[in-house]
Amino acid sequence: MKFDDILSDVGDFGWYQKRNYILLLIGWILTAPFMVLSVFVLAMPDHRDLSANLIEYIQPTTFKNLTSLQVLHLYDNELSTIEPFTFINLPSLRDLHLTRNNIRHIREQAFGYLPSLSQLVLAGNPLNCDCSIFPLWSWLIERSSIATNAKCSNGTLITSLQSPALDICNPDNCHCFNGGKCVANGNELACDCIGQWTGEFCQESQCISHECGSGDCYIEPINGTAQCLCDDRYVNFCPEHIN
Ligand SMILES: *[C@@H]1O[C@H](CO)[C@@H](O)[C@H](O)[C@H]1NC(C)=O
Ligand SMILES: *[C@@H]1O[C@H](CO)[C@@H](O)[C@H](O)[C@H]1NC(C)=O
Ligand SMILES: *[C@@H]1O[C@H](CO)[C@@H](O)[C@H](O)[C@H]1NC(C)=O
Repeated sequence: MKFDDILSDVGDFGWYQKRNYILLLIGWILTAPFMVLSVFVLAMPDHRDLSANLIEYIQPTTFKNLTSLQVLHLYDNELSTIEPFTFINLPSLRDLHLTRNNIRHIREQAFGYLPSLSQLVLAGNPLNCDCSIFPLWSWLIERSSIATNAKCSNGTLITSLQSPALDICNPDNCHCFNGGKCVANGNELACDCIGQWTGEFCQESQCISHECGSGDCYIEPINGTAQCLCDDRYVNFCPEHIN
């Protein structure tokens, strides 16, 4: 017997099936609003208002990659430093409001890939205009389409700072040897040396005059003296291996 033949016995899509079908639909209709709700609940808002929230610190990359964010309000908080990579890759961000925080330092690369940014509102922050301002200053000079009222703690507009005065803060004019990095140190740049290297340009090392034999010289981090490392032991001199 074929399956279709059963239908001729029991009757096809009749009143009984229609009633069951409609009862089933009532259940689906009730769930429909919940399906639609996710459209609104999971949507990315264009505006975020985090003003007057006593925020003291923003974790780097907190606002990374929010592609549809257009306006971000962070005024009247208690931020003191904007860390590197805080506001990056926000292609739609137009207005960033950071008014009346306590921002003194904006670190290098705090802002990156903000192609739509037209307003950076920073009034009411005592920005420190020593050499640490150089990255922000040069970024603002390059991106002259960004309107900003950022001021130094003495009231001078950041964008009116003069290039010759800041030359001394330009990392291109600072050279460190042996892997040292130029970092802002008050109104000048200084070399931040690594490993055994010291001196103004990281050109000096106690290891230069410290003979270690077959071992490697390193600088003891606590007392700063040259030591030798041989076979996991720290000594003053490593005798040649005797095979
Ligand atoms: C952010 O976007 C960049 C470039 O589109 C991508 O490489 C990165 O993985 C994204 N990061 C996150 C946390 O989504
Ligand atoms: C404020 O500080 C900047 C940077 O140190 C300096 O160039 C400027 O002349 C100062 N302005 C006043 C009014 O003191
Ligand atoms: C420095 O520290 C090392 C390792 O702790 C020790 O062996 C050495 O004697 C110290 N040098 C001085 C001058 O204190």
